[in-house]
Amino acid sequence: MAKHLIFLGAPGVGKGTQAQRLAQLMDLPHVSTGDMLRASVQSGREIGLRAAAVMESGALVGDEIIIGIVAERLLLPDAAAGVVFDGFPRTIHQANALDNLVSAHGDQITAVLHINLSDEEIVERLSGRRVCSKCGAIYHIRYHAPAVNGVCDICGGVLLQREDDQPAVIRKRLAVYQAETAPLIAYYHDRPAYHLVSGEGEADEVFSRIVEAVGVVR
Ligand code: AP5
Repeated sequence: MAKHLIFLGAPGVGKGTQAQRLAQLMDLPHVSTGDMLRASVQSGREIGLRAAAVMESGALVGDEIIIGIVAERLLLPDAAAGVVFDGFPRTIHQANALDNLVSAHGDQITAVLHINLSDEEIVERLSGRRVCSKCGAIYHIRYHAPAVNGVCDICGGVLLQREDDQPAVIRKRLAVYQAETAPLIAYYHDRPAYHLVSGEGEADEVFSRIVEAVGVVR
């Protein structure tokens, strides 16, 4: 049976950081809808052109676009054993679509990892975030700084600040999370796959909580 894991939580709680690590540990692809949209923007593809302004404003891209790119991604051969989702689903409509996609293959959602963190800490983390323009590795100017300022430790790529990590857009993204994504907590809450994980503390500590919740062997 394929394994499909979901990370749920507000912007900046550490979904990307933890999803990349868990995907590596479980040898599954890391599927981030945010990364896929940013790649479309960079390549100038039609979807990217439509999504760019929405993303910069902090609003959500339309459900049909997102469901379409996820459904296509799940058809690639490397997704046969499952995937670790990051930033998807983000609305009840997307969650319903994912349930349908997964059950069409006779599978279920393996784990829903809901990471929580105070708004104060979220703003601190997002305003110091830097992302590698080449490989997507995530850094923080204080908590996880690269060895050489502005340069990725892994691939040597240039580190950039995301357009949507400006204070006004961060506030908008948090409001959008409360209005459109937080209802997913109730949607998943009563399933055995649901786990509430504290995002407080160092990334290694958070990862240990996640590994324990999922029950994977390191
Ligand atoms: P997306 O890219 O998904 O962004 P997000 O959900 O807002 O989440 P972030 O990437 O900002 O945060 P994160 O939780 O991954 O935190 P991270 O690990 O980087 O979406 C962007 C946009 O795309 C959306 O606004 C929307 O427009 C669109 N979109 C995407 N998916 C969509 C969908 N399904 N439907 C509709 N629209 C969609 O960590 C943050 C910082 O903290 C980093 O600097 C990191 O180094 C640091 N950090 C992490 N953990 C720790 C720790 N334990 N201690 C200290 N620092 C830490």
